[in-house]
This record gives sequence, C-alpha cells and structure tokens, in this order.
Amino acid sequence: MPKAVSSFERTLKSRTRHQALTNWLYGELRSAILEGRLAAGARLPSSRDFARQYGLSRGTVVSVLERLQADGYVTSRVGFGTWVNRVEAPRPVRQATTPPAYVHRVISTYKRPQPWVDLAFAKGVRPFRIGVPGINEFPSEVWGRIAASRARNFRSWLKKEADRRGYRPLREAIAEYLRTSRGVRCAAEQIVIVSGIQQALDLLARLLLKRGDRIWMEDPGYFGAGIAFDNARARIVAVAVDHEGLSVSAGIRISPNAKGAYVTPAHQFPLCVTMSLERRLALLSWAARAGAFVIEDDYDSEYRFEGAPVPALQSLDNHSSVIFIGSFSKTLFPALRVGYVILPDPLIDPFVSLRYRTDFRNSSFDQAVLCDFIVDGHFARHLRRMRNLYAERLATLMEGAKQHLGGLLEISNVRAGLYTIGYLKNEMTSRQAEKLAAAQGIEVLAVDRCTLRRPDPKALLLGFGGFDELAIRQGLIRLAKSLS
Ligand SMILES: Cc1ncc(COP(=O)(O)O)c(C=O)c1O
Repeated sequence: MPKAVSSFERTLKSRTRHQALTNWLYGELRSAILEGRLAAGARLPSSRDFARQYGLSRGTVVSVLERLQADGYVTSRVGFGTWVNRVEAPRPVRQATTPPAYVHRVISTYKRPQPWVDLAFAKGVRPFRIGVPGINEFPSEVWGRIAASRARNFRSWLKKEADRRGYRPLREAIAEYLRTSRGVRCAAEQIVIVSGIQQALDLLARLLLKRGDRIWMEDPGYFGAGIAFDNARARIVAVAVDHEGLSVSAGIRISPNAKGAYVTPAHQFPLCVTMSLERRLALLSWAARAGAFVIEDDYDSEYRFEGAPVPALQSLDNHSSVIFIGSFSKTLFPALRVGYVILPDPLIDPFVSLRYRTDFRNSSFDQAVLCDFIVDGHFARHLRRMRNLYAERLATLMEGAKQHLGGLLEISNVRAGLYTIGYLKNEMTSRQAEKLAAAQGIEVLAVDRCTLRRPDPKALLLGFGGFDELAIRQGLIRLAKSLS
C-alpha cells in the first residue's frame, strides 16, 4: 500500500522561460522519481492539492499524471490516489573530469594507518576476530525495557546536562564499580564520560603531548594508541615487553625524560601478560621522579578466569601520575561507544574544555540507559554470566588447539581477556599465516602488526569471546588446514 503523502514541494526546479508547462512538470517529477527523491511507494498529493500548491490548472496536473502512469513511473487508482512505482534508475554517468584540487590534495597524501595495510578481513565477523564480545548473549530485552522507560520519561535525561563531564548518576555508578571491582581510587567528580578508549587516547594525546615530545609505548603494543600519539606528532619510544610487562629499566635507558608512558598492565595487548608488581612500582617511581604521566588502558581487565583479580595500577599511585581509561566495549558491546577517563583533579577542566571543542558530550539518553542498567544490578549479573561463558569458550579453544594445532601453533597459557596469543611453530611469518588463514575464511591477527621496532614475534591473535563452541571447533580445523 502507498506510504504517507510525499511533500516534494521543495524539490521541483523553476521552469525556464520557453519550457511548456506540462513538459516542465513531467520532467521534474520523472527525475525526482529516477533520482530517488520520490521513493517507491510514496503517495503524491491529489491533483487538486497539487494544482493549488503550484498555481497550475487541475487539467495540466491530471494530464501529467496520466503521462507518468502511461510511462510506468506512477500508478493511480480511483479512491486510493497516485503513488510512485519502483523503477530501475539509469546508471549515473561517471564524470571523467579529475577531482577538484582539494579532493586531490587529500587523497594524494592519505595513508592508511600502517597496522591496517593489507588487512584481509571480511565484512562479516568470522572466527577468531579479536575485539568481539559475545553479543548474542547480551540481555537486549532488559536493555530495551530500560530504554523504553527512559524514552517515555523524557525529562529525566533530556534536560541539558549542566556538567560537561557526563551524566552525574552514571559517573557515580562507574566510580562505585571501579572502586569495588578494580580497586581504583576515584570519586565521581574525577570521571569524564567519553566515546570509548580511542577517544580518550586522542584527547589525552592532544592535551598532554606537544610535537616532538617522547612517550613510552609497549613494543609490541596497541596500535590505536600509536595512531593517537602519532596524530599529536609525538615521538613514540618503543619499550620492550617481556613476561613481566613493559621493561621499565629499558625505558629509562632509552628515554629517561619521556613525558609519559602508555601501558596495558592488566592484560598486555597483544602479548596477554599481566604486569608484575615489581614493574608496576618501578614504573610509578620513574613517573614520580620524571614528573611524567602514565596512561593506564584497562581495556581487557574484567575477565580473569584464574587467580586473584589484579587491582589497577592506579590504586598504587600516590603522586597523581596515573590517568586511568576504560570502556564498556568488551563488557557490554562495542557499538555503545561509552568509555571513561579518571583524571587528577587539576586536569579535569583542561580535559573537558578540549573535549568541548570537538563533540561536546556523549548522548544523554545512552548514558541514562547505561546508568539504570548498572544501578539495577544487570551489569554485575551480565559480567558474572559472561565470565563463565568466556571461560568455557577459552577451554574449548585450548582443548581444540591441542587436538588440531600441534606443531603448528602453540597457544599461550593465558587465563584472562577475550583473546589469546598463539606462537607459530611452522616457520611461517605472522603475515604469511594471517594471509593463509584468511584464504580459509579465518581471521587471525598477525602480531607483527603491533610491533614498533621488535622483529616479528611470529605469533597470531585469536579472539574467542564472540564465538560459540561449534564455531571455535570448526574454526580451529580450518586454521590447522591453512597452517599445515
Ligand atoms: C588495548 C585496547 N585499548 C583500547 C581499545 C579500543 O577501545 P574502545 O572500543 O573503548 O575505543 C582496543 C580495541 O581493540 C584495545 O585493544
């Protein structure tokens, strides 16, 4: 049945001096239909209303509509009106002209960030893509109920938030969660809501670093952070990571006066190690001496399947050196785009002002829904349930790897996070292995995409969080085939 009456009043161009009225109207309606400005199913106003809108005689309009009907562009039925048919638009003629100079300037200097060059990932998500939580298990009905109730109760979140740090009740809920489950020392006042860790990194890089300033980064490390520091024209100092995490002594040897460091202590990206207490204390002591900052990216910390939870580095800090960042991308779902930054008091205003220059703030509605989800206990419940599920998925992966990947890939014995690392035992480079796996429809990330100076660790990252046991088992068989 036809859709609502279309208002295309504005879309008709004015008539040229020598153009016949009917030809003009026919041409305008026809091109509006072909270009999709009048969509298939749209109902046209009655010939009487139409004639009145355009100051035409009704007879002119009727004859144009009849012609359009005869040519197949519209259908008229007495008592129902006239609506637009689905028509195949002719292919637009591609203009052969060179792009304008400004477009040329952009495309000739644009470079894909190095870590993504030649990445052969498919459009759909396939095993073992990293960064994918178990979205199918997300309690979307609960989320939907909360969202509906907040949408009805418009005034609770629509009011312009006076506080640019974000929705206050949400910040309180996050502070409570981080204090109890991550040992973070913080008050709601220190929390600023952002659109994920990546935005936090971009803003912090711009706030804390000037062109040419040095910053320590784990090698191998999280390329997203490298991109943010690079955008700020900072100089990235590659500091090796070993089984205890970032080597602080190496950092001090190479660049004692760096302005700061970026680390992933809970679950190092990509080597999956947890930073030892000794290294944590050494890093904090260097930062305090050098007057440097430490950005603690807590991305993959919530899921530990063995051993005691490891408190945040920030909880050991007595000098306001640490800036703690985290997000709900893995605990809930990445499309939510809500994260948080915990700042030392004097940095709150400068950070918020800088953020205000780009996108003001996160959506108040999303913040209100998330707040209720946490306060009503659904978040804690979801985390508990997912921890068990992910532990099972990891166990399936470890068991299947033993069965199918012997002599090809040795999965490291990690017991945290939603991905794990496997070291190649078959003489392949990590890029070769990534490519061969992609040809079998398997997505594993070559770890050399994360290196700065270090040689290829000949290893692959395998995400398991987003895939059920069957998908994991089948994926491992195909991976084994590609690596054999
Ligand atoms: C270590 C690390 N930090 C941060 C991010 C991005 O987090 P967000 O989705 O909150 O921007 C990722 C995503 O892969 C990551 O691996």
